[in-house]
Amino acid sequence: MTDHFPLTSAEIDAVRRPLNRASLLPTRVYSDPDIFKLERERLFPSGWMVVCHVSDLAEPGRYVTRHLLGEPVMAVRDRDGQIRVLSNVCRHRNTTLLSGEGTCKGNRMICPYHGWTYGLDGKLLAAPFMDEAENFVRRDIKLPELRHDLWHGFVFVNLDGQAAPLAEALADLEPHVAPYRFEDMERVELKRTRAPWNWKVSLENFSEAYHQPWVHPISAEKEFPADKVDYRDTNNAYSLFLLHHASGGAFELMTDPVAGLPEEFLRIVTVFNIYPYFHCLTDPSIPLLLDFNIFSETDHEMVWSILLPAGSKARPDLDQLVAGFLGFIAPIMAEDVDVCTGIAMGVQSKFATAGRLSHMERAVHQFHNWWLDAMQAPATGGQ
Ligand code: FES
Ligand SMILES: [Fe+2]
Repeated sequence: MTDHFPLTSAEIDAVRRPLNRASLLPTRVYSDPDIFKLERERLFPSGWMVVCHVSDLAEPGRYVTRHLLGEPVMAVRDRDGQIRVLSNVCRHRNTTLLSGEGTCKGNRMICPYHGWTYGLDGKLLAAPFMDEAENFVRRDIKLPELRHDLWHGFVFVNLDGQAAPLAEALADLEPHVAPYRFEDMERVELKRTRAPWNWKVSLENFSEAYHQPWVHPISAEKEFPADKVDYRDTNNAYSLFLLHHASGGAFELMTDPVAGLPEEFLRIVTVFNIYPYFHCLTDPSIPLLLDFNIFSETDHEMVWSILLPAGSKARPDLDQLVAGFLGFIAPIMAEDVDVCTGIAMGVQSKFATAGRLSHMERAVHQFHNWWLDAMQAPATGGQ
């Protein structure tokens, strides 16, 4: 613990205890701007933050931009088909270079401010009216390239360059995820929800099924009851639990199961988080993804997507398929938003407390211990 670490030893000890004796993180971690500042310095840069799925970068020139806790980055597929994650800040007067997502015309990125032009590898190709600037060496100028890693079709970035490779950190998760073949799928965005509460409230909500009988009594609870959930021990880089159908048999699916999925996967829904905030819940056919845009200690956006088999974006009935999926999931999401809205008010109360945990909140306990590890680790200098 550093001198300025914002939790007391007693608060840390309460979280560090085994699950059956542990308590939650103190409630100020959900609202204190100084704690959020420390998260921005330590927690997010040291982890792997998802940027996009490879299907968002289908051809050379395709790009996606993100603001990751205030850091503008872009993922782009270069002319050789390689994926690069680059700083999205122009090397002249620091405006953001690209916006949204799309295709770079002529495989070039042209700054909207004064026309400095970059190649897809980030190298500066042209800088108009800079011929009188002394010692200005155009070919020495390049957008900083950030360390990225591909994991089952997702592009992740590690801002401080120090994190263990994802395949290493997630080796134990591999057998639970590989059969779904996310890398062969296409991402389709479903819905965005602006959430005026701390990002951890949302992630914790999707880390346990304990709430299902009360929050989702006629949907999720009927299909995969809370008391049949199988929470797994993990190595602290992720959490994992498996949902089983109420009947003990296979799940009813909206589309065909993933080709080649082992038979035992037809009877489970796999739920995992990769810290800090990537969340996935997948039945045997359609993975549901949750990504975050985090703006402040009490403001974030939840971005919901699904993965579909390659070629699905061109399906003429894509809209109906998406509408059908949303018809099932949107009411559940709304029920979750209601309880999270309640937490947003409750954690600011002078009577708020770091309550005790159920054995059905093992992934919340794992998350809190990961959070402490990341926050207590010495800050790294970045890459
Ligand atoms: S800020 Fe990009 S060219 Fe001036
Ligand atoms: Fe829920």
